[in-house]
Amino acid sequence: MAKVELRNVWKKFGPVEVIKGVSIDLEDGEFVVLVGPSGCGKSTLLNLIAGLETLTSGEIRIGDKLVNDVPPKDRNIAMVFQSYALYPTKTVQENITFGMQTRGVDRAVQDEALADVSQLLHIEQLLDRKPGQLSGGQRQRVAMGRALVRNPDVFLFDEPLSNLDAKLRIEMRTEVKKLHLRLGKTIVYVTHDQIEAMTLASRIAVMDNGHVRQFGTPEEVYENPVDLFVAGFMGSPSMNIVKGRVVNEGGYAIAVSDEEGTILFPLNSNQTEKVTGREGEEIHLGLRPEAITHVGAHSVRQSDLFAFERVVDVVEPTGPDTMLVFTLGGIEAIARVRPEERVKPGEIFRFEVNMGKAKLFDGKSGMRL
Ligand SMILES: Nc1ncnc2c1ncn2[C@@H]1O[C@H](COP(=O)(O)OP(=O)(O)OP(=O)(O)O)[C@@H](O)[C@H]1O
Ligand SMILES: [Mg+2]
Repeated sequence: MAKVELRNVWKKFGPVEVIKGVSIDLEDGEFVVLVGPSGCGKSTLLNLIAGLETLTSGEIRIGDKLVNDVPPKDRNIAMVFQSYALYPTKTVQENITFGMQTRGVDRAVQDEALADVSQLLHIEQLLDRKPGQLSGGQRQRVAMGRALVRNPDVFLFDEPLSNLDAKLRIEMRTEVKKLHLRLGKTIVYVTHDQIEAMTLASRIAVMDNGHVRQFGTPEEVYENPVDLFVAGFMGSPSMNIVKGRVVNEGGYAIAVSDEEGTILFPLNSNQTEKVTGREGEEIHLGLRPEAITHVGAHSVRQSDLFAFERVVDVVEPTGPDTMLVFTLGGIEAIARVRPEERVKPGEIFRFEVNMGKAKLFDGKSGMRL
């Protein structure tokens, strides 16, 4: 087991800066998920930890040892790639046990490890096939199996579930989580699926354009996003982020205006502190879909509740909840209500907001206030 430390890590490909000064510390046994949009540098950062790319500057330590110049095979890591490469001429069984064979692992230990992972990954019946005779998802599971039979200090996973169908993906997500609980190994796991990030991570690093915007527990990242990027990226459907202005008419509020009129969202004392003296300034008001719902849904202090009416544009039942799309401050906002609310498009609906959950962001910098 090992902790992993990244100190001011930079990576340039020629003139292109891809990783721009990343510093994060992973504790021993932690499950850290790197999440962010396509091209933000997740795979590059993972490859730097693996030693498959060399740093432009900075330091990487695995278990207190500086590994900048240590080749991948001496880092005691196991990696599952986004584009997993299996040996095409070897069977599934040989692909999984090949590493153990070359290390001279006892045959009985090999057999046991093989039986364990093939059961875990539901590939027992595929052991004699070649990779060319497998579906994409099956190949991905074999690639995971190959990493799992090793006994590394650190597991590195690059979107290991991306080729699986939706059901198997959720099943495997649970298996990966159980596996971590059982083995207690340090894991760095890349995904662009923020639900996967929330469910798996002990901490999440939210990346954007070569930077780590926020590094925190799933709860911190979800409840206390540091800026508009993190707020908008984490959560599905996304947080509603509307432009408004600070007003003070016998109490501070955020005024949100559009063709349907102006709504004054009243601020509580904490929020008031953050905008005092900013009258007239532009602010982004962030409200997650679950913070806007039907009247009576929130079990919070009455003083945190605020109701308003709007025309519903679209009704989207999902089963357990129904999403109502309406216009607010020029955006298509989404509210999450119970399916029993029988509202139709074009009708007026009375929404109730839990203002205690409202987030405020600076109108210019986008930073959380
Ligand atoms: N060898 C390379 N030479 C030049 N640019 C590269 C190289 N490898 C990656 N890049 C660029 O670096 C950026 C980050 O790539 P990376 O593969 O790390 O993204 P990612 O976050 O893993 O994206 P995805 O979610 O699509 O896998 C991209 O803009 C990519 O085009
Ligand atoms: Mg990638």
